Amino acid sequence: MRVLGINAIFHDPAAALVVDGRVVAAAEEERFSRRKHGKRPVPFSAWELPELSAAWCLAGAGVDVDSLDAVAYSFDPGLCRDAAELGLADPWDGLRVDYARRAPQFLAAALPGLDPEKVRFVPHHVAHAASAGLAAPPAGEDTAVLVLDGRGEVASHLAGVYTDGQLSPLRSQELPHSLGLLYEELTRHLGFLHSSDEYKVMALASYGTPRHLGVLRELVRVTDDGGFRVERIDWAGLAKEVAAGGELGEEHADLAASVQQRLEEVVLDLARWLYDASGGAGTLAMAGGVALNCVANARLAAEGPYRDVWVQPAAGDAGTALGAALHVAGELGDRSAPMTGVDLGRGWSDEELEAELRRAALPYTRPASIAAEAARVLADNGIVAWYQGRSEYGPRALGHRSLLAHPGDRDTTRRMNDVKGREQFRPIAPMVRAERFGELFEGTYPSPYMLFVHRVKPAWRDRIPAVTHVDGTARVQTVHPETEPLVAELLAEFERRTGLPVVVNTSLNTAGRPMVDTPREAMELFGSAPVDLLALGPFAVHRRSFGDAR
Ligand SMILES: [Fe+2]
Repeated sequence: MRVLGINAIFHDPAAALVVDGRVVAAAEEERFSRRKHGKRPVPFSAWELPELSAAWCLAGAGVDVDSLDAVAYSFDPGLCRDAAELGLADPWDGLRVDYARRAPQFLAAALPGLDPEKVRFVPHHVAHAASAGLAAPPAGEDTAVLVLDGRGEVASHLAGVYTDGQLSPLRSQELPHSLGLLYEELTRHLGFLHSSDEYKVMALASYGTPRHLGVLRELVRVTDDGGFRVERIDWAGLAKEVAAGGELGEEHADLAASVQQRLEEVVLDLARWLYDASGGAGTLAMAGGVALNCVANARLAAEGPYRDVWVQPAAGDAGTALGAALHVAGELGDRSAPMTGVDLGRGWSDEELEAELRRAALPYTRPASIAAEAARVLADNGIVAWYQGRSEYGPRALGHRSLLAHPGDRDTTRRMNDVKGREQFRPIAPMVRAERFGELFEGTYPSPYMLFVHRVKPAWRDRIPAVTHVDGTARVQTVHPETEPLVAELLAEFERRTGLPVVVNTSLNTAGRPMVDTPREAMELFGSAPVDLLALGPFAVHRRSFGDAR
C-alpha cells in the first residue's frame, strides 16, 4: 500500500510517504519553503498545505499521485467541538475546523490527479501515537504510548497501549487542560516565540531555583484516573513579563525552573498511571511536542517504571504526517516497519554535489576520506559544516546537516552561538561513539536521536567543557557505526588525534532559519559564517583556500 501522510493543521507542516508499511520519505515543509516552522499556528493558516514536501516525497520515491492508496491527514474535524465549550479563547477556531473539512479538496488542488475520496482524517493524537507506537523498535510485547501535546481536536493528551499494531486508548485529557499549552504560555511570558522556542525555556530552567514549585503543585495536578488539571496561572504574579527578545533575569530563570520541575513530576505521574493501566508494559513510546523536552524524558527514563523509553524524533506536529500514514497503512492491512533512522529527507548524489561546487566556482578537493579531513580540521579547533546524505526529519541535526566543533575548548560554545546568532545561555550538544558512551556519561543508552539529557561523569567535565551545560549535563547523540558509518569514522579519527571520543554537533543553520537542506544553502551558509571547512559529501572546501595565491 502507498500512503501519503500530511500534517497541515497547526504548524510544522510536513509530508511522509509510507510504502508497504515502511517510511520511504519524510520531510518538513520549512526545509523547502525556508520559513521556520512552515507557518504560524493560527486558524487562518490551516488551509496551507505542505505542497512542496508532499510533491517531493512522491517524486523522490517515484510514486504517481494516482497510484496512492490513501492520503492520511493528521486531524479529524469530525471530532471538533465549539472552542468556547472547550474553554479555548479563540473566536476564530471554527475557521480552522472549516478548513480541515475542506482539506480533501485543497489536497486535490495541490496534488493534481489526486482523488479527494482517498483522503482519510486521522485523529491528531492517534497520529502522534502511531508515530511513536508503530515507529518504535519492536519491543516483542505490548508498547505503552503516551502523547503529550499542546492540543488536538478536543484533547491535549492520550495514553494507550499498542498490541500487535492496534492501539487501545486508555485515557485522554480534554482541553483546556494542556501541558503543552502551559509551556507555550510560559514561553510567551518570557519573551520567546511560543510554539517554537520552548526548548530555550528548558535551557533557561537549569539556571534557576524552582522556588514557585509549591504554587505550581496546586495549580497543575494529576487526577486519579490518569488525567490532569491545569488551572489558570497568574504569570505576572510570579515573574515580570518579558517583551519579545527582552532581558531575562533570575526571577525568569526561577519561574522556568519551577514550571520545568512541575512538568517533570506530572509526566512521571502520568507515565506511572499508564504503566499500571497497561498491565506493566516494558516499553513506553512517546510523542507530542512535550516529548521533545529532553530533561523530562531523562527523568522519566531514570525514575519511571519502564525498562525502555523511546521517543519519536519528530515528536512535534511534523511527526503526525508520518504517524497518520503509518496508522492508515495499518488500517489497510500493512504491518509497520520500525524506523531505523531520521535520514528521510532530500539527498544528492556525488555527481550532483560536484556539479553544484563547479557551478559556484568554489575551489574544492576530494580527499581520500572526508571524515578524516573533517577530523583534522576539528582537531585544529576549526568549525566544520558537515553535509552528508539525506537530511533529517524532525528538529535535530544528527550528522547529516550538522555544524561540528571541538568539545575541549571552553570558547567553542561562544563561537558556535556566534556563528548561529543564538543566545549564549543555550548549550551545545555532543555526539559520542556509542561504545564509549558509558565511560563519559550516565543515563539513557542508546540515544541516537538526542532526546535525553545525560550527566557528564566528573572526570570528563573539564575535558569536554564546551558540551557540559551549567548543571553538569549534556544532550548526547550516540553514534552507531552500523547506522552512521561516516560519522563514526570521523569520531574515531578525531579521538585518534585528540584522545576525545566526542565532537560538538549542532544544526547546520543560522538563527531563525530552518536547517540547511540543499547543497546551495550549505554553500551560502559557508560563505557567510566563520566556518573553516565545508564537507559537502566527499568534497572538501577549505576557508583558507580563499585568497590563496595558487
Ligand atoms: Fe500535536
